[in-house]
Amino acid sequence: MKKITLDSLYRKKHPKEGASPSKISAITAYDALFASLFDPHVDLILVGDSLNMSFAGKPDTLSVGMAEMLYHTKAVCRGVQRAFVVADMPYGSYTHEKQALKNALKFYQQTRADAIKLEGGQARAPLIARLVQEGVAVVGHIGLLPQSVRAVGGYKIVGKTPTSARQLLEDALSVQEAGASLVVLEGVVASVATEISQRLKIPTIGIGSGAGCDGQILVFSDLLGLFKAFKPKFVRTYLEGGTLIEEALQRYVQDIQTGHFPSEQESY
Ligand code: KIV
Repeated sequence: MKKITLDSLYRKKHPKEGASPSKISAITAYDALFASLFDPHVDLILVGDSLNMSFAGKPDTLSVGMAEMLYHTKAVCRGVQRAFVVADMPYGSYTHEKQALKNALKFYQQTRADAIKLEGGQARAPLIARLVQEGVAVVGHIGLLPQSVRAVGGYKIVGKTPTSARQLLEDALSVQEAGASLVVLEGVVASVATEISQRLKIPTIGIGSGAGCDGQILVFSDLLGLFKAFKPKFVRTYLEGGTLIEEALQRYVQDIQTGHFPSEQESY
């Protein structure tokens, strides 16, 4: 099984002569079990701070810390042989350069993550450049920034006005210029995300940003139909996982009540 590297991801956008470009497929994972199921199929696995919601049941991503992100990244890496693993820098872990460096290096020193991701555009460029200088592969994240949800007052699609679209392009170019290897475009109007993807040399990975991005990512619990409280417009559910689990659990409980589980073959 050939390990996916930054070079192989870049080559999907810029193939060698004669080959056609192909899209990057990405998904989140928070543990070794799911990561090992996803690993043979996707190019990139993100240990997203969305785990604070999907895994820990919190209302947003803000309260997850470095200890939890390191724990989940280690678990995911144990389940991965092939995919490129990206770990999210949690909110508050990269507010100062020194602190950001210390925390980013922890992902390299304590886990087998291939890159870290941090939110923010132009304003984060100097920090990205510093991390890259230190040998850290950085994935940018611009557009709708979940770590800014309280400041902004909700999850809002961006790029709807010419000013916002221009700022997004500036953000994307700054992040690329600073040395980021990939950039996530979240909640960006599709036409703007397409233009950014065409203007950037580095691959873009979209979530809720239309088909013009160089790759796509979804949170695994949305994709597998495990999270059913609400469904954003951009999510496509590929499995009714929640319903299948409910049905399985009903049968399990029924079998216990009726004495059909365990059977003789399932007993010692
Ligand atoms: O935390 C996360 O899962 C993310 C994706 C939404 C890109 O950042």
